[in-house]
Amino acid sequence: MSTLNFAIIGTGGITLQNHLPGLALCKDVRVSALCDTSEATLEKARAQIGEVAVSTSYEDIVKRDDVHAVIIATPNIAHKPIALAAIAHGKHVLCEKPIAMSAPDAREMAAAADLAGVRHMTAFTYRFVPAMRYLRHLIDIGELGQPYHFRSCRLQDWGTRNLGWRQVKSLAGTGELGDMLSHRINFAQHLIGPIKRMVANVKNLTPMRDGMPNDTEDWVAILADFVNGATGVLESSKLASGRNESWRSLDYVEVNGSEGTFEFTTGKWNELLFGKVGGPGIAPLAVPREFWTWPGSPRDPGVGDPLITFRYDQAFEFVDAIRAGRACVPSFHEGAASQAVMDAALESATTGKWIDLTAEAAAPIRPA
Ligand SMILES: NC(=O)c1ccc[n+]([C@@H]2O[C@H](COP(=O)([O-])OP(=O)(O)OC[C@H]3O[C@@H](n4cnc5c(N)ncnc54)[C@H](O)[C@@H]3O)[C@@H](O)[C@H]2O)c1
Repeated sequence: MSTLNFAIIGTGGITLQNHLPGLALCKDVRVSALCDTSEATLEKARAQIGEVAVSTSYEDIVKRDDVHAVIIATPNIAHKPIALAAIAHGKHVLCEKPIAMSAPDAREMAAAADLAGVRHMTAFTYRFVPAMRYLRHLIDIGELGQPYHFRSCRLQDWGTRNLGWRQVKSLAGTGELGDMLSHRINFAQHLIGPIKRMVANVKNLTPMRDGMPNDTEDWVAILADFVNGATGVLESSKLASGRNESWRSLDYVEVNGSEGTFEFTTGKWNELLFGKVGGPGIAPLAVPREFWTWPGSPRDPGVGDPLITFRYDQAFEFVDAIRAGRACVPSFHEGAASQAVMDAALESATTGKWIDLTAEAAAPIRPA
């Protein structure tokens, strides 16, 4: 098996936390090029790799013959131009979420990648939580029955600190919506199916963060109807004071159907809660061992903190799809479908009206 060479563009937080350790676990994979507009950030990542080409210009990186695949981990505004440039040079692309600033842009990226015949993947990292994959399996085999309700609640305490590019609309596109809810919209579409129509509200309660202007929303809520008749309620906030952050804070998903109820929380990577219709209530349901890692992943689930290490399976999936010449899970199409709901949420929040999603936006997600 020949070595696959990767370039990473944007070598900040998520690259150090997820992408580099994930690629390090993959066999016959090399990080051959790194790019960041900040020399200091680039140097920090380079020091972890050793021998590697570096540049502050992504154009230099995507045209390199020794690069087969590119991971994009920059602020959101740069995702589309970098992805299109990489695709134009025939590179496979894994792009951080939200993959673009709007759904039409995301669809353009997906279409360009399909046309070029390269692999494309959206970094919806929580799809790699073992409990999420087991939940989808249980739904697939009928344990939920007819879906009635999807409910998600993402509550974190980010206080009023400065969030850098994340609080600048022209760089981030949206705030809590793209940052956190984009993942949960993807859960909803993955577990229940496409959304037909929705109404939403967003709120900016911190117009200044640590002395710097914030023109993005801190809170968002969506009320949705799915094509299959189920209902959805999704809420996400950076201002749930005292709830802590990341996996230490609340990331709750509940699905109710004709056969029962399942509850998923990111903080419990190997456990769901389950209640059978007419039963005594919900109780823990262990995730079987075969779901602890992504199929084929070389990761040992006994090594490291499993609340961090499940994320490394994302890099494996990208590598495996490239080698197998098959679609990545989740692809840019899933990124675009989540983005369609984000666009509709902003439109609804502005107009105060229910928004019907177009057939294109509501298109069924490719099954995992
Ligand atoms: N999948 C997840 O769970 C997850 C988690 C965190 C962040 N993210 C996403 O990852 C992306 C990066 O987030 P982060 O937290 O790592 O941000 P960050 O600010 O820590 O890192 C971004 C880096 O990109 C660099 N950069 C900016 N413009 C660039 C350009 N044109 N070319 C090259 N480098 C450029 C910056 O200098 C910075 O070092 C965002 O899209 C974010 O939404 C996803």
